[in-house]
Amino acid sequence: MKYKPANHIQDLQYFGEFGGVNPSISDSSTYTFLSAKTMFDTFEGNADGCYLYSRHSSPSNLYLGEALAAMEGTETANVAASGMGAITGTLLQLCMAGDHVVSSRTIYGGTYAFLKNFAPRLNIETSFVDITKLDLVEAAINEDTKVLFCESVSNPLLEVADIQGLSKIAKKHNIPLVVDNTFSPLSITPAQLGADIVIHSLTKFINGSSDTVGGVTCGTQDFINALRSVNDGANMLLGPTMDSLRSASVLKNMRTLHIRMKQHSKNAMYLAQKFEADGFRTVYPGLPSHPSHELFKKMMNPDYGFGGMLTLDVGTIDKANEFMELMQEENLGYLAVSLGFYKTLFSAPGSSTSSEIPEEEQIEMGLSNGLIRFSIGLDDDIERTYQMMKTCMKKVGLLEAHKA
Ligand SMILES: Cc1ncc(COP(=O)(O)O)c(C=O)c1O
Repeated sequence: MKYKPANHIQDLQYFGEFGGVNPSISDSSTYTFLSAKTMFDTFEGNADGCYLYSRHSSPSNLYLGEALAAMEGTETANVAASGMGAITGTLLQLCMAGDHVVSSRTIYGGTYAFLKNFAPRLNIETSFVDITKLDLVEAAINEDTKVLFCESVSNPLLEVADIQGLSKIAKKHNIPLVVDNTFSPLSITPAQLGADIVIHSLTKFINGSSDTVGGVTCGTQDFINALRSVNDGANMLLGPTMDSLRSASVLKNMRTLHIRMKQHSKNAMYLAQKFEADGFRTVYPGLPSHPSHELFKKMMNPDYGFGGMLTLDVGTIDKANEFMELMQEENLGYLAVSLGFYKTLFSAPGSSTSSEIPEEEQIEMGLSNGLIRFSIGLDDDIERTYQMMKTCMKKVGLLEAHKA
């Protein structure tokens, strides 16, 4: 039976402290105990339902975590103040000095920079591999490897990871498969395909209003308890804690995620087909020309489409900049990093979100500097948007007269 993640969000039921349909926001950093013994037991992790201190957990953060765990089909989840807070906490919980990570080489620039530049300071080394080649992934695993890391749909090249294939390799070597699912919420459910831990930057589609950063780690109760341990939990000790007011607002936005994802996907598919027909090198997992189109189809929960992200290669960074500036001027969207907003966002990743990746490596992984990454918005009339984009393309000389 197909997994229906939006049903799991829909079915959550809340009775707020005063009967509110939204749970009351826990506006406290610390919590009282009626007996000193209960405080002791809570520190020892033995008092269910008692809160200690909000860096550890708070009712509002637990509500949001439970909604995200329901969506991803994991036992539970831990929210963090940013996607990077979730990623770094998770990796540092799994790795000690001397350990090794095998990671996809096409990942978000911040994650790449953490693994490449920061983790080695703690004597944690990473092998970056082409995640679409399972034999290379397996060959990179050694006796010190403690994590296999990838993004389900990669930032910014939109490579698709074969989560079932990677999970088999991870299980064979007894290491966890950690999947960042930021680009494909609802469309792909990595835990159903064998991922052990699923991460999101909530900043993007899940919150969907570009008004906060946030993150989550979804996994087993044991792993989430470990992250929160007062003795050696990475998230408890490093402190990337989301504020309760904010987690309450993210929870509210999550309820429309399925409607938004369908619209993002519908609009992105429309534009991808048009751009490709216009002769542009267009990358979108929904296009049959995408090398992993069939794989995405095999993995996806079909109701939500192929996602809202696409890339277009316009040849040079100068042309990309000219085109993006004009699109912003014409109010087609914003020249901005990030994704999942109601308006289209566009940026050239080579000089922005992936600039942490050295130029030679960008070339090797196929990240050309004329590449524009689009997060397609919720436009009600995408045909109008396309016509306006075409006018911009003509003006900057991207479309020849006969195609215009
Ligand atoms: C795929 C992916 N993962 C993680 C992150 C980091 O998330 P945050 O900016 O919320 O820390 C980003 C941010 O751009 C991202 O695109």
